[in-house]
Formats: sequence, structure tokens, C-alpha cells
Amino acid sequence: MSDDVRQRISDLVRIIREHDYAYHVLDDPIIADEAYDALFSELIELEAQYPDFVLDYSPTQRASGAVAKGFSAVSHHKVMLSLDKVFNQEDLLHFYQRTFKILGVDFDMVCEPKLDGLAVSLCYQDGRLVQCLTRGDGSQGEDITSNVKTISSIPLQLYGDDFPKTLYVRGEIFMRHEDFFRLNQSMQSQGLKVFANPRNAAAGSVRQHDSEITRQRPLSFYAYWADAEQGLANGHYENMMQAKSWGFPVSSLLKRVYNAKEVIAYVESISNQRVDLPYDIDGVVIKVNSLLQQDMLGNTAKSPRWACAYKLPAELKESKVLSIHTQIGRTGIVTPVCEIAPVHVGGVVVRHISLHNFQEVSRKDVRVGDSVCVRRAGDVIPELVGVYLEKRQADSVPFQAPSHCPCCKTLLAQNPGQVAWFCPNHEGCKDQIVFRIVHFSSRKAFAIDGLGDRLIALMVHSELLKDPADLFVLNKEALLRLPRMGAKLADNLLASIASRKKIGLDRFLYALGIREVGAQMAKNLAAIFKSWGDLARAKQEELESIDDIGPVASEAIVAYFRDQKKRSFLQRLEQHGVQVESVQTDLSDHQDLQGHVFVITGTFSIPRSRIEEKLTARGARFVTSVSQKVNALLLGDNPGSKYQKALNLDVPIWDKDFVMDKIKDNQ
Ligand code: IVH
Repeated sequence: MSDDVRQRISDLVRIIREHDYAYHVLDDPIIADEAYDALFSELIELEAQYPDFVLDYSPTQRASGAVAKGFSAVSHHKVMLSLDKVFNQEDLLHFYQRTFKILGVDFDMVCEPKLDGLAVSLCYQDGRLVQCLTRGDGSQGEDITSNVKTISSIPLQLYGDDFPKTLYVRGEIFMRHEDFFRLNQSMQSQGLKVFANPRNAAAGSVRQHDSEITRQRPLSFYAYWADAEQGLANGHYENMMQAKSWGFPVSSLLKRVYNAKEVIAYVESISNQRVDLPYDIDGVVIKVNSLLQQDMLGNTAKSPRWACAYKLPAELKESKVLSIHTQIGRTGIVTPVCEIAPVHVGGVVVRHISLHNFQEVSRKDVRVGDSVCVRRAGDVIPELVGVYLEKRQADSVPFQAPSHCPCCKTLLAQNPGQVAWFCPNHEGCKDQIVFRIVHFSSRKAFAIDGLGDRLIALMVHSELLKDPADLFVLNKEALLRLPRMGAKLADNLLASIASRKKIGLDRFLYALGIREVGAQMAKNLAAIFKSWGDLARAKQEELESIDDIGPVASEAIVAYFRDQKKRSFLQRLEQHGVQVESVQTDLSDHQDLQGHVFVITGTFSIPRSRIEEKLTARGARFVTSVSQKVNALLLGDNPGSKYQKALNLDVPIWDKDFVMDKIKDNQ
């Protein structure tokens, strides 16, 4: 009897796996859902009665329900690189010609869609899934194995018997549109926060601490890379076909192409199919097929030279203007914002579009009730391209700009020569205060956990906060008087504020919200000045000698520190215990680059002399010409002929971001 059961369990596992393969890999189910469910239920029942017979790769084992406290960081067997981007045919030809020049012979390529989800690296030992890591910083990722095991399209046990002993497969976890909308509907009906787009939904689902939640999320997977010491083919396309035979879903849009013209035709065909695809893509990936040629091409610091991503242009959608209102920002600038009927465009649901200023509203003549064309590309902010005038209602009326601040009712003002209108009541206008504190506590600034926009608005409107410095004198008693504020929430908030009192100069400068000083400029300034006091003493000419800082930014910086009110705000921050730490140390201590020889070319966001100074202090030496003895070429914008020479000699290349990171690393 028990042998029969053992046999039945093993048969059921085999049959269910066959159906899984047909469904997930071949995209061609051969059984009705009900019949599949019946097999699955039978297996669950038998396994419950005979736990000793449960096979560890049984499809029932996906429902692990493991709860992880945190995800541990694990090194990737090989760095997970990113892809160089190309945006047009000219860039693409440049990629093709550069590749041809290095290889010296013709080469085959594979084109595939660039999926918009999250990259993972799977490891199989003897055909069994043993580890799954997120991309993380590329060198180390987070171990999300127990969650990923619940994704039904990722094989727990490989099919066939010709797979390598240790196999690494990388690919994208993503969510199909249909699944995304269904998930959001169900989240909404449970009163939970909905996801902004399928990518966020996929990433949020995979990083759950309870794998039971991941199991309930409709996640999909496509493999796009395989690696093993032995046992793989010598071409990417062949590897993907093999991966498919072992049970990995691979996009059916993968295509071998043999010249640049075919790549362009593929990109065009994908652009045309894009709106009809059941999932988001943000481009096309082009890869040199031969692994031998891939090796010859090698990698730069961040990306392989054998592949590139052709980013597809923005998506356009039509929607309707529901209302136009005005918003006051942290600097007092008034921005007209258009509320539109929600549309799914470029991977997110767009409900609001900034119209920048009143001049823009009248230039585009946007009116309530208009049908409008909306655009959003990749990470770009949604834009209102224009109005479909032929659809305009006969009774529509032009937008009337307000004369007074919608928040504090102060008369709006305009600086001579500027298009923007602003509310001059900087200290008293509550909207401005709210947005200043939102900025101050945001992720790239003080990064205060648990302090959402609504809570900030509540605290400002109940006079608990008048400026960001007040955050550091909040007390529990006062917090508890706020509606819906419990003791635990108050304690957590106070603890997270207290934990942020020590802050790096770069974040601090960004947090101040000085006009024109974004996160990158704040980083550059912090790499040059030791303290905010040093920066406050800098003359405008001195600031302008720094790359990327023009007269407008330098004037804004000087004006900020000259303003008495700002000075007393800075003093109060210090009095309340905020400690700003310089992001520089005595570099001469670190001789980690002893013996390294570098060549530098092109322009960077800080003067080249500064980069040379910093790296020389760590033992490096700079020479002017590229040779095989050079350890790396530091590559800025608009490089000279040194770049080509470095490519020819296969000298490692550090791009701009990598150089800036390298400088920062040792601070
Ligand atoms: S290949 C070394 N192929 O794009 C090559 N990447 O910048 C590694 N991505 O976040 C990537 N679809 O997750 C490759 N068909 C595809 C892809 C793809 C999406 C993502 C990948 C990574 C980014 C690379």
C-alpha cells in the first residue's frame, strides 16, 4: 500500500511539473485549471497523510511561509553589471562600429525586450534551486531565496539531465498588466496602499518578510543570461534555448540578428508591438551572441562592452482634464497642476501633471474638460504634450490664474524678468513650511523614517512645527495630542529623528533646500568644502570655478548664507544637537592606490585637478598617455583620443560616476 502511495505521489509531482512546463515555459497549457487544481489537491492530501514521502522539489514546497527578519547580503559569483544605454540609431551604429573595431570580424547578435521589473540571480546545484539574490549594488545582493521559491514559473528542480552541476541563471521578475491591476484592486478593497506601477509591485512583492505574501502575488519571470563553468553552449542564444529546455521561461521575442540593419528593424518592430505587450518593457537589449567574442570585448567598470540597451522613446496616451489647481512649493513658487482622468502611461498611473507656470498654461491653452495628450518616458516626469483642440467643448473657458496664494491668501508676486509667481509669505505660509520639512526629512536629506507628508502637514497646521529645526525639539506629550497618534508611533518617530542628528555634509546641504542645489551638487560641494561654515565663507567667484556651478547657483548659495534668518535657523539646528560631519578625511592615511597608474580624459563634475589630488594622496600616479601599463582610464564627458586607445588596448575604464564614487569611498 505505502509503495502505491509513494508511486502516486511521485507520479503526481511528475504530471504537475509537466503541466507547469507547458504553462510557464511553453506558454501553451494543456489542461484546464480545474483539472490541474484537482491534481494539486490530491497531492497536498497525500503528502499530508504521508509526510515521509514528500519530495523536496514537489510543487507544494513552494508554499514555504518562511518569515525572514532581514535579508542577508551575499556576494554574486560574478558582478551583476548594468547596460550601456543608446537612445537612437546613431548611438546604436556607434555601438556596432566600436564592437566591430575591437573584434575585427563580423559578429552575430541577439535582440530581446528589456523587461521592466527587477533583476535576480538564481543558483542551481545539481539541478536544485539553492539560492536567489537581488542585484543589490552589483557585487552583493540580498538573499531572497525563500520568497523566490514561491514563484511558480521559477523551477525548483530543473527538467532533463544535461544541466551543469552548478548553474547560474539571471533574469527579470516582473508583473503582467492584468495581474497588476487585479492585485491593486484587491489591495484597494482591503484598504491597503496600491502600487504605483507593475515594477514597484514586483519589487515590493519579492522583498516581503513573509514568503506567504510573496506566494500570493502574481509574479512572472523571464531568464536572460546563463553561466556555468562547464556544460553550456558557446552562444547566448543557444544557452537561452537550453535554459528553456531546463524549465526557465524565456521571452518568445528573442531573435538572432546578423547586422545593424536587422537590429534597427527589430527595435522598430518591438516599438510597434509595445502597447500590446502584456507587460512593461523600457527598451531592447542587444547582445553579441558568441561567448568567445563577449570575452574578447570584456567589460568596463559598470557594463559589458558586448551588450547595450536601446531605450525606447516615451509612450503617449490620451486623457481628460478634470481640474486645474495651484500648488505652493517649498520656495513659495506657485505651480499650476492639472488633475487628469487616471491613465496608465510609461509604467505608472498618472493622475496629476505639473504645468510649471501660468505662462505655460496659457501657451498650451489647457482648459478643464479638454482632451489632452500625456507623455511619460522611463523615469521622466509626466508631461502634458498638448490639447486635442478638435475635441474641445464649445462652452469651455480659459484658465484664470489666481491673484492670491491658495494657502495663506497673500497677494502673489513676481520677480522682474521671471515667469514664476510666488507667495512672498515665506515664514508664515503653511504650505511652504510643509514642503520645506518634507524636503528636509526626505530620503536624500535627513531620511527620517515614519515622517510622511500627511503627518508633517498635520504638525504644521497644529503649530507643532514652524520650520525643520523644530523637529529636533518635538516631545512625546505634544505628539500624543495629534489625532491618531499612539504612544508607539510617537516613540518610533522621536527615536528615528534622534538617530538622524548626525549627518554627512552632502545630505545636510541638500536638506537645506538652497535654490539650485540638488543632491548631486550638494555632493560635489561636500567633496570640496569641509563644513557648511567653509561653504558659507566662499566667494561667488570661488564657487563658479567649480564645474557645474554657474552664476545662478553660486548667487543662490551666497544669498542663502548671507540671509540672517537662515543663519539663525542653522544656529538652532546646532543648538538642538544636529552634528554635521565632513565627508572628507585626511586622505594621506589611505595608501590603497599605491603603485596604480591612471590617465584622465574629458571633463568631470569637479575640476580634474581635484580628482588627481585626491587619488595621488592615496598613492596613485597620473601619466598623460595610455599604454598597457596603465591601470585605468578615468573617463569624463567629451573624452579625447585616449578613450579609443584605451578601448583598443583593453585598458580598464572608470566612468564618471565610478570615479566620483571612488573618491567618496575613501572619505
Ligand atoms: S542583460 C550583463 N537582458 O536591465 C548584462 N538585462 O541594465 C546584464 N534587463 O536591471 C543584463 N531585460 O535586470 C539583460 N533582456 C535583458 C533584460 C535586462 C531587463 C535589466 C536588468 C538590469 C538592467 C541592466
